[in-house]
Amino acid sequence: MRIILVGPPGAGKGTQAARLVDSYNIPHISTGDMLRAAVAAKTELGKQADECMSRGDLVPDGLVIAMTVERLGQPDCARGFMLDGFPRTRAQAFALTDALEKAAIVLDAVVLIEVPDDQIVGRIVGRRSDPETGKIYHLSFQPPPPEIVDRLVQRKDDTEDACRARLAKYHAETAPIVDYYAEQGRLKRVDGVGSADEVELRIKAALA
Ligand code: AP5
Repeated sequence: MRIILVGPPGAGKGTQAARLVDSYNIPHISTGDMLRAAVAAKTELGKQADECMSRGDLVPDGLVIAMTVERLGQPDCARGFMLDGFPRTRAQAFALTDALEKAAIVLDAVVLIEVPDDQIVGRIVGRRSDPETGKIYHLSFQPPPPEIVDRLVQRKDDTEDACRARLAKYHAETAPIVDYYAEQGRLKRVDGVGSADEVELRIKAALA
């Protein structure tokens, strides 16, 4: 399976990807996770990405395209992949189409997880993740077990201001690529409101 997950910040892309990759036995390729790892490792890419990410801006296309195309060329992607957070601009979508065509790879589906704007900030500011397991929680909606609460961390860009900036970027830059994939007949729209279990079932039904 070769799948792209698209949706606004906090739509549940990371939460759903973590569930789905086990079912489909494919790697989860999150450009956000890759960029955060580069920032933590203080690589040249990380240094360039850090400021953009903290503000809620997009990292320049050239950097993200090179990073993602290189990752998709690794052996574990030969059997498929779940892309989360890429493409996010028209330039990224065209670059991905180009790279896949060159490798004679066909996308199976682009899943759009739809969540209304008025639910996004609450999801983002309550998000915490576990640095030991990588698991994502929400203080109210997906509460962590009490014994691990002290070690949970909050992302630097999970403030209300950065979240609003990310949401504005999503509508300006990413929402237009949804039409690009709809025109290709690859788009599956999934309602992202409801429990994570319900959303997972909807995605699996859309992909079946
Ligand atoms: P990235 O990490 O991709 O962030 P994002 O797209 O803003 O998405 P999030 O990770 O915030 O949300 P999500 O949809 O994964 O939701 P989650 O499952 O965690 O990108 C971060 C930054 O990196 C960007 O701003 C940009 O700077 C840069 N970047 C990344 N890719 C780039 C690219 N291609 N080009 C340029 N720059 C790029 O869920 C959120 C919360 O909601 C959690 O607490 C979760 O527990 C809860 N939740 C999940 N599902 C439900 C549910 N059904 N009901 C209630 N709560 C739920």
